[in-house]
Amino acid sequence: MKFTEALSSLIAAATLAQAQLSRVNDFNASPTRLQMYAAVPPRSFPGPHPIVVAVHHCQGSATGYSGATRYVQLGQQNGFIAIYPNSKSGGGCFDVASTATLTHNGGGDSQTIANMVKHAVEKLNGDPNRVFAVGTSSGAMMSNVLAGVYPDVFKAVSVYSGVPAGCFAVQGATATQDPPGWANSCANGQLIKTAQQWGDQVRNMYPGYNGTRPRLQIFHGTSDNTLRYPNYNEQLKQWSNVLGLSNPRNTTNTPRSGWTRSIYGEGNEKTAPLVGYSAQGVGHSVPQQEAMDLAFFGITN
Ligand SMILES: *[C@@H]1O[C@H](CO)[C@@H](O)[C@H](O)[C@H]1NC(C)=O
Ligand SMILES: *[C@@H]1O[C@H](CO)[C@@H](O)[C@H](O)[C@H]1NC(C)=O
Repeated sequence: MKFTEALSSLIAAATLAQAQLSRVNDFNASPTRLQMYAAVPPRSFPGPHPIVVAVHHCQGSATGYSGATRYVQLGQQNGFIAIYPNSKSGGGCFDVASTATLTHNGGGDSQTIANMVKHAVEKLNGDPNRVFAVGTSSGAMMSNVLAGVYPDVFKAVSVYSGVPAGCFAVQGATATQDPPGWANSCANGQLIKTAQQWGDQVRNMYPGYNGTRPRLQIFHGTSDNTLRYPNYNEQLKQWSNVLGLSNPRNTTNTPRSGWTRSIYGEGNEKTAPLVGYSAQGVGHSVPQQEAMDLAFFGITN
């Protein structure tokens, strides 16, 4: 790194630390026009820092979602970088519909977010081996997409009220249209596939990839009227196929009354490769469980 670059990184980092969440002006927003907002940990954390990408819902924004969730403050306390991508679309949604976004390095929003991670690694002392994503609704759909399209970048994701990766694929949707495509049959919980079909769809997002796949934590409310409840089971089918898991261990009333937890594979709710939470009677807005996210990511105990 040249001295001037080092200096500008330092200034950028100092500015970010002061302002908490700030627009990262030297991120070039390529290949789509998403803006990058970030908060870096205070200097007492030497780094390299884990990275948590927090992806907002439709009609949302980076600043709005950072106010509604606690990843910025928790990043200051626990020493991770919080990145909040900001949608370019008027409706505030992310593109989870085009072939571009559903393909590794395909030129869509998923690639722009992967580029934010790259920027954080190169300029903000981020740790490429501890990169995570969390999202709500459109952001949950995007987090599923990131897990499928960038298994080499993301180690674990946590999704609140999403759909399987590729469920929103819309024929003819492009990476630049606004609003991005909307897939009614998927949203309405009518797009049902076999686990193998869902798994194949993920494997085809990055053909030939044979490395480790991300771990997933999946939340969904049974009374969700926006991205209906069948999408919970379809996500579990998809990722249990991709990760080669079956026969979850289910526990009722965990962590809240009426919620059922399903742990797939070895380990507990913090370490297992796939964990689902079905929230009885809860609608589209599942209460954010930031502490559970950080424990699942291995950032906290
Ligand atoms: C798959 O794994 C093999 C053996 O580790 C490696 O040589 C090959 O490059 C990998 N393929 C891809 C596309 O990553
Ligand atoms: C455990 O929960 C999963 C996910 O909801 C479900 O598919 C499975 O049937 C449940 N298993 C039992 C034994 O109830």
